[in-house]
Amino acid sequence: MREVARKTAFVTGGASGIGLALGRVFAEAGMKVMLADIETDALANAVSSLRDCGPDVRGVTCDVADPISVEHAAAAAYQAFGNVHVVCNNAGVGGGSGIDNISLDTWRWVLDVNLMGVLHGIRTFLPHIRAHGEGGHIVNTASMAGMNSGLGFSPYSASKFAVVNMSEGLAMQLAPLGIGVTVLCPGFVRTRIWESGRNRPERYGPAQTPDPASQAGKLAANLAELGRSGLDPSEVAAQVLAAIRENELYVFTHSGPDWRSELEERFNAILAAMDRSAAR
Ligand SMILES: NC(=O)c1ccc[n+]([C@@H]2O[C@H](COP(=O)([O-])OP(=O)(O)OC[C@H]3O[C@@H](n4cnc5c(N)ncnc54)[C@H](O)[C@@H]3O)[C@@H](O)[C@H]2O)c1
Repeated sequence: MREVARKTAFVTGGASGIGLALGRVFAEAGMKVMLADIETDALANAVSSLRDCGPDVRGVTCDVADPISVEHAAAAAYQAFGNVHVVCNNAGVGGGSGIDNISLDTWRWVLDVNLMGVLHGIRTFLPHIRAHGEGGHIVNTASMAGMNSGLGFSPYSASKFAVVNMSEGLAMQLAPLGIGVTVLCPGFVRTRIWESGRNRPERYGPAQTPDPASQAGKLAANLAELGRSGLDPSEVAAQVLAAIRENELYVFTHSGPDWRSELEERFNAILAAMDRSAAR
């Protein structure tokens, strides 16, 4: 979608981190922006922080794990701005701690937000975008955790692998309709993802925090440290806007040798296994 000015963007997880940075970059590009988030106070602060950045920035409370809540948020966007063109299914949470002690509630919470949340956004907005016919673009936030197996057996990784796959399939199906799809796969970005427990609804039970002395606890501390020294979210957002304009499927914010070698290792192991199977 080359021309974004005067179009409308809807961004979930818009109260913080990457979502807030997306809202800012869209507003600065002349778009009307609806930020949707579960954290009401942070959302109000986010909206006022962007007030002078663009034509019109508003907020709507939304729990992406709940399809009805997403539909209500979409209705608020249509009422405020008319047609919506860019949808960023970006809200996400991190959780999980070690192979044996990830509760089913934690699996459900992470998959409900990170995977079902993306699905709810697509199911809600796709018929609308197809019907208005003014063009559109869907951005799904996955992660490098959806490309390599670095985080191992975890609901986070499982959800992000699914989002990558879903986006690839969607891109193929929407290309003939002129609707673009981007899957965002960041490495470490300086956000509040490491404090995801702040938004865990009561229905999923208490947040799980791994014993700091355990392997899972050490991994979590290490990842949080890498997050604190990660990329500024504004750099991620600028890459997403460029991908929307150029209609690019993948955005990889981290492409250094370490990230590449993890991918090469995985792909090479898969290809070698295929060769072995073929030789048998
Ligand atoms: N920060 C990183 O290093 C990193 C790396 C890869 C991918 N990501 C992904 O980026 C996306 C944005 O996360 P972030 O890093 O900006 O973290 P963040 O915690 O700063 O922002 C996430 C936002 O999502 C919102 N949210 C959580 N649950 C929600 C729900 N049920 N409904 C609606 N909103 C909800 C939170 O309130 C918050 O505002 C996530 O999908 C995350 O998995 C982040």
